[in-house]
Amino acid sequence: MQENSLGDKTMDESRQGEAIQLQDGEKVNGKKLYLESYGCAMNFSDSEVVASILRDKGYTTTRDEREADVVLINTCSIRDNAEQRVRNRLANFNKAKREKPGLVVGILGCMAERLKKQLLEEEKMVDLVAGPDAYRDLPNLIEEVDGGQKAVNVLLSRDETYADISPVRLDQNGVTAFVSITRGCDNMCSFCVVPFTRGRERSRDPHTIVQECQDLFEKGYREVTLLGQNVDSYRWNMTSKGEVKDPEKPTTNFAQLMEMVAQVNPKLRIRFSTSHPKDMTDDVLHVMAKHKNICNYIHLPVQSGNSENLKRMNRGYTREWYMDRIHAIKRIVPNCGISTDIISGFCGETEEEHKDTISLMKEVKYDLAYMYKYSERPKTLAERKFEDDVPEEVKQRRLEEIINLQLSHSLEINQAQIGKVEEILVEKESRRSTDQMVGRTDRNHKVIFDRKDKKIGDYCLVKITDCTSGSLIGELVEE
Ligand code: 5AD
Ligand code: SF4
Repeated sequence: MQENSLGDKTMDESRQGEAIQLQDGEKVNGKKLYLESYGCAMNFSDSEVVASILRDKGYTTTRDEREADVVLINTCSIRDNAEQRVRNRLANFNKAKREKPGLVVGILGCMAERLKKQLLEEEKMVDLVAGPDAYRDLPNLIEEVDGGQKAVNVLLSRDETYADISPVRLDQNGVTAFVSITRGCDNMCSFCVVPFTRGRERSRDPHTIVQECQDLFEKGYREVTLLGQNVDSYRWNMTSKGEVKDPEKPTTNFAQLMEMVAQVNPKLRIRFSTSHPKDMTDDVLHVMAKHKNICNYIHLPVQSGNSENLKRMNRGYTREWYMDRIHAIKRIVPNCGISTDIISGFCGETEEEHKDTISLMKEVKYDLAYMYKYSERPKTLAERKFEDDVPEEVKQRRLEEIINLQLSHSLEINQAQIGKVEEILVEKESRRSTDQMVGRTDRNHKVIFDRKDKKIGDYCLVKITDCTSGSLIGELVEE
């Protein structure tokens, strides 16, 4: 079995060639952009910022790569296989370039930052490289390429949050949207490349966040997911040590931000990701419990159930601390869905340590888990300090044990939902049949049901009648 994510948070599938509509009065420059995204939700959200920046310069977008004048691939570096997938796609676009020499091919995001000029110079795979903080420069970079040069901007910024840019929604369902609240990460988990590719952590002005959520609601959106590598360290007008920067102005922490967003409209559901066990406060949980429209669901990556392993991972908490946070969730937010990320076979992981991960999973019983084999990443603390010494077959076997256990837990939790009546938000048509729709419960369980008169964006009540480990089956009930 390959590494697995039981759910769709990490979007290991790419999202390709999204089309945007120009609004009345907008100028068209005749050029077509094809945008393809890989990796985490933050990348998908960034692609919406990129589409907005280029739309303002008159670009239209296409879903057909053969029509494109500019191809941009928003990339992920988190594990080696994510990078390999992008390299394969780049090879394809290079073939297309031979037939269409004017085609501009660029890479954005984490690989751009990590590999910088290597992709331009040594591998000659691309014309343009733009890191996560350089998207405002894209129109100039494309012009440079049109002028016959290769173009690169991978400067990381201390304050870029794209706060003033109104993202073009590429997701098409018109109901659920991502809203970035922080960029970058200061945590330096020893396995993780993100602090190197996305730079220092910075928070976005809360008023622009609330405004964006308000605009989304007015356009018909009914759910926002507030995004950050570590949402719990969101702070506005405060230093990382918690000191006030400008005493004349108010400060905002994550609990307060959630409260502000929850008040936009009771019909707007709020989700958030990712929470960090070392920073998640009871205040956040109390705000969740207080507002019905803040969904009862927390993604709280544990990575490992063993304190020594967590120390090598530089996660900043022990198993006991993590379990205390789980108990706090269960106490303050009853019926809260909990999901996690787990890495198998990190440097030095013993069989005993792996067993601790298994026992922690049994103690918590996650609704959902995203499970990975450790993949060594260049420049990270782990690469410099530790040996990647768990043999591949051991990593694989441990991963399979973790996945199998999680499958049984997901099934057990789903079975416990049978007979309940849940309010769901309808998100899309089912892939299998246009007579069926897919929605989500507050606790983030996917529910499939016969549509009758229901439309995307409706809230409705369903009775859960059956399930698999991946989804619930329900039927509409009269309200
Ligand atoms: N190897 C395997 N998994 C990793 N993750 C981050 N870096 C690595 C790596 N080097 C996983 C972590 C993180 C999730 C987004 O990806 O579990 O929470
Ligand atoms: Fe990576 Fe850790 Fe930051 Fe998450 S919190 S992005 S795992 S360094």
